[in-house]
Amino acid sequence: MSSTEQRPRITVLGTGYLGATHAICMAVLGYDVLGVDTDPAKIDALASGQVPFFEPGLPELLRKALDSGHLSFSTDLAEAGEFGDVHFICVGTPQKAGSDAADLRYVEGVARDLAPFLRRRCLVVGKSTVPVGTAARLTTLLQDNAPAGTDVELAWNPEFLREGYAVEDTLHPDRLVFGVASAWAQECLEEVFAPLLAEEVPVVVTDLATAELVKVAANSFLATKISYINAMAEVCEATGADVQDLARALSHDSRIGGRFLQPGLGFGGGCLPKDIRAFVHRAEELGVGRSVAFLRQVDAINKRRRARTVDLVREEAGGDLRGVRVCCLGAAFKPNSDDIRDAPALDVARMLQQEGAVVSVYDPEAMENARRTYPDLQYASGVMEAAEGAAVVVLLTEWEVFREIDPWLLGQVVAGRTVVDGRHALDAAGWRTAGWTYRALGRAS
Ligand code: UDX
Repeated sequence: MSSTEQRPRITVLGTGYLGATHAICMAVLGYDVLGVDTDPAKIDALASGQVPFFEPGLPELLRKALDSGHLSFSTDLAEAGEFGDVHFICVGTPQKAGSDAADLRYVEGVARDLAPFLRRRCLVVGKSTVPVGTAARLTTLLQDNAPAGTDVELAWNPEFLREGYAVEDTLHPDRLVFGVASAWAQECLEEVFAPLLAEEVPVVVTDLATAELVKVAANSFLATKISYINAMAEVCEATGADVQDLARALSHDSRIGGRFLQPGLGFGGGCLPKDIRAFVHRAEELGVGRSVAFLRQVDAINKRRRARTVDLVREEAGGDLRGVRVCCLGAAFKPNSDDIRDAPALDVARMLQQEGAVVSVYDPEAMENARRTYPDLQYASGVMEAAEGAAVVVLLTEWEVFREIDPWLLGQVVAGRTVVDGRHALDAAGWRTAGWTYRALGRAS
């Protein structure tokens, strides 16, 4: 491994979820890192040791990185151009309004704005999830606009981190993918990831297009696996079979495995839903829409889960939700996160409210985000307060604190002991013993 002095200096452009984690982890590994964002509030927070989102372990690492002197922050792309040997693009690629396509304005914007400051040989590395073909266009854009011209190269290094496990996934990833157009670019990436390569993290070196595709292919596979088991849940519902037992039986087959085979309310978040839609959109543009048309079914099955959960609550409420108090446990799209982007939990809470239910939402970490985005929902300050007088309790995000709820205690404050377990996370037998009616999609009542 090269000494600290010889190590490339790194900039991370975009300090959202992915970028902040990447910048902090690279600094902890001993690289000099400059994190850059257009949002001064975000930069001020990070520079003063505050992580602007919930991610276990990250605040401690941020303090460590700042104390080490390896990490600084800026809003200035000129400073980034001057500082960096390797520039990571970590900006968002959300779904475009009114379309399934990815909105590439931030990726293209940062490349266009950075280029005039690239005056010497450097490598720009895309980490954002993009439609295949983007890297080729960005290469031209960078080289046409940079004073260093073709001395600026582009590589693609997709990021697979899961929220809630971002630090672990960044420091100990399952694999690294280096999409490169030259041996020099590969060498640069090997220097940047030297500490991980020393730990024998598997590396796949490939071309730019394949690297772009790996990410969407991986997320599509995961989404398909979740919708597959949820499709089985629908079949179970029609037959009285039990999807939990079915999933367990499937999981023992090592060819199938048990991960991402958890039935329930389905997937949400800032990645899986928009990535599968953007993939279908891009494949159609390329004339191979038929090859991934099944992803539309994957999406449809997933959306049905939300509506079906509302059906179950309505059924338990006697067919009409008007005026019925419903306790909604969870708002984040998954536990250990305060991210509410495309959160199934909040979709369900809003649908219940639209049908006239009086909902009370509680989440251990996502309350602030939920309140800001959906101020019309009612929020409680804890599980007991949310459940007070509820006719139905519905579990929407499987936080550990919800799994540990004592059904006897909760039974004291509700108006009716009915629980709809949207995440198959509760011990059905234990809740039934405590006098509750337990319902879950794909399980007999
Ligand atoms: C995902 C990918 O896992 C990650 O590799 C990629 O970089 C970004 O997208 P993330 O969005 O953090 O990560 O969440 P993930 O843990 O993958 O969960 C996605 C959703 O699927 C959640 O809403 C979760 O509740 C749901 N899920 C997951 C299920 O419904 N069932 C399962 O068995 C697993």
